[in-house]
Amino acid sequence: MDATEQKILGLRKELNEHNYRYYVLSEPSISDYEFDMKLRELERLERENPQYFDPNSPTQRVGSDVNRDFEQVRHRYPMLSLSNSYSEQELVEFDARNRRLASAPFEYACELKFDGASISLVYENGQLQRAITRGDGEQGDDVTANVRTIRSIPLQLSGTDYPAEFEIRGEIVMPLDVFDALNRQREDAGEALFSNPRNTASGSLKMQNSAEVARRRLDAYFYYMPGTQPDDGHYESLQIAAKWGFKISEHTKKCADIQEVIDYIRFWDSERFKLNVATDGMVVKVNSRRIQQELGFTAKSPRWAIAYKFKAEQACTRLLSVSFQVGRTGAVTPVANLEPVSLAGTVVKRATLHNADIIDRLDLHESDMVFVEKGGEIIPKITAVDVSQRRHDARKIEFVNVCPECGAPLTRRDGEAAYYCLNDAGCPPQIKEKINHFIGRRAMNIDGLGAETVELLYRQQLVRNVADLYELTHSQLAALDRMGDRSADRILASLDASRTVPFARVLFALGIRYVGETSAKILAREMGTIQRLANATQAELTTVNEIGDRIAESIVGYFRDSRNLDIIERLKAKGLQFETAAAPVSTSAKLSGKSIVISGTFINHSRDELKALIEQHGGKNVSSISKSTSFLLGGDNMGPSKLEKVKQIGVPVISEDEFMQMIE
Ligand code: IVH
Repeated sequence: MDATEQKILGLRKELNEHNYRYYVLSEPSISDYEFDMKLRELERLERENPQYFDPNSPTQRVGSDVNRDFEQVRHRYPMLSLSNSYSEQELVEFDARNRRLASAPFEYACELKFDGASISLVYENGQLQRAITRGDGEQGDDVTANVRTIRSIPLQLSGTDYPAEFEIRGEIVMPLDVFDALNRQREDAGEALFSNPRNTASGSLKMQNSAEVARRRLDAYFYYMPGTQPDDGHYESLQIAAKWGFKISEHTKKCADIQEVIDYIRFWDSERFKLNVATDGMVVKVNSRRIQQELGFTAKSPRWAIAYKFKAEQACTRLLSVSFQVGRTGAVTPVANLEPVSLAGTVVKRATLHNADIIDRLDLHESDMVFVEKGGEIIPKITAVDVSQRRHDARKIEFVNVCPECGAPLTRRDGEAAYYCLNDAGCPPQIKEKINHFIGRRAMNIDGLGAETVELLYRQQLVRNVADLYELTHSQLAALDRMGDRSADRILASLDASRTVPFARVLFALGIRYVGETSAKILAREMGTIQRLANATQAELTTVNEIGDRIAESIVGYFRDSRNLDIIERLKAKGLQFETAAAPVSTSAKLSGKSIVISGTFINHSRDELKALIEQHGGKNVSSISKSTSFLLGGDNMGPSKLEKVKQIGVPVISEDEFMQMIE
């Protein structure tokens, strides 16, 4: 084997590994930039040495998100990708080639490159027919039911001047504030955190339960209409699409020449951090669609467009130490303490290492010089080690095998990457975090008590669990550092008031692993009392809608522990709510004489609840649509035949919100 062949095989192997880390594990170990540089090098070698062609080379595939649980649909126009550029010089070359080939002067449209999941929507007669993921570019998954839950996507277009049938493409994204809130909820429920908004958006699109997708509050931006007549500019066609109801980025700019494009890109390189959505670059498109046609496509991408990728900001600094933090659920997370270094406008002192596997993969040693990056992720992470600067006697970083806080041995559960300390009743950070969770705003909302006071109370051995909070006396509280009579009064009053906090929130506050706010609400509603919940078997629990094996198992385990039962008994004795108060049934005759059909899935109520509401207000719930139907109460994912029928007969469709207003 000659040196060239060896080089080619080596690069293929390396790139395949990186692909796997990126797409399957979501744990890339090199930057996109480094990956693209290696891919380019391989492309060049393969081009110059065609005798080594291999259809399975990483240069030959576009990646696929095909999932067998969804119906496969062929794209009418293949979903191509964009060629990437990393320097202003490459943009100048792109411009020079276009100007040489084009028959007339033209402008550019310069757009943000949204970092999400691409989607193709098909509209017929102004109605959304199908939503298909990119898949392998030729065919993708039909995710229509899920896409219909995205509020910013029009199901019915406005106006009348849209083509009878057309396709529009865009990017499904998860806004950054939604992503942060989702991760906070997962943290509260003791679930593994999502790594970045892009993977979360594409993962959400593939969920089997579209009601759950609706809760993910996804968003979408549109940027391309393949196959439409080239009578106009691209920018102008998007403005028209905006009038039909599509969300188009307000930051798209027409630029007369490439210098103006470059200036605009420089502006967004730093400005993008102020947006509520992740972007990984900009896209530069020839605006005239006539000239676009002249320039045409290669097999993989349009010649009239190019992506400019922002460099993920990177810095090199020294690893000072690794600490192991223990969370409320006992999960042990390694954190790298770094020599402070400035990166993307902030000073970075710490970086997450996620779990033991990552430490091994990086082959991290004491005092290593490490590269930190702030990519789509919020917390900086270590992407690589500069091995050339390692001291010869540096020792490898080992994951601890006993809890750094209480000394209990750590265990790893099947299928999980994290190590856990199981000594939940004796491990100080677990005890304190459980109390902090309990007093939190979304749980018992104890005014005046915060993490600092909990720390003091713990150190003075006044509290060891949440029930102890209700035994605190005024003199104990008032004697604490920086606490006075007034603060002590406030805390006691707030603890007293927490006796009226509804059962669902009390259940959430207990901090049972995997029982987040939503599942606590469902369980409180379905089970009614803590007694019933405590007596339920795993099989019974999983019959409750949206309660899976993992949550059920955790609940059963929680109630098997007599220490937990003891805490609940003490809280009960203090008067906390452990039953769902029967909702005062409000009745009226507001729907009297009306026959109402329910169709689809709803955000705030189950269908049974809506049925009950209709009856309480004097209406009648009927199952099929006829001339005598007063209105259809419609949610997401209504059946197409029902929609067709209401249109035919002219029955009005009322949303969940409108319905609630009607009976208010
Ligand atoms: S245009 C034929 N415009 O980037 C041209 N793509 O790396 C179709 N993307 O697959 C793409 N923002 O998922 C275009 N403003 C934008 C974009 C954009 C994000 C994504 C898209 C595409 C990928 C290519």
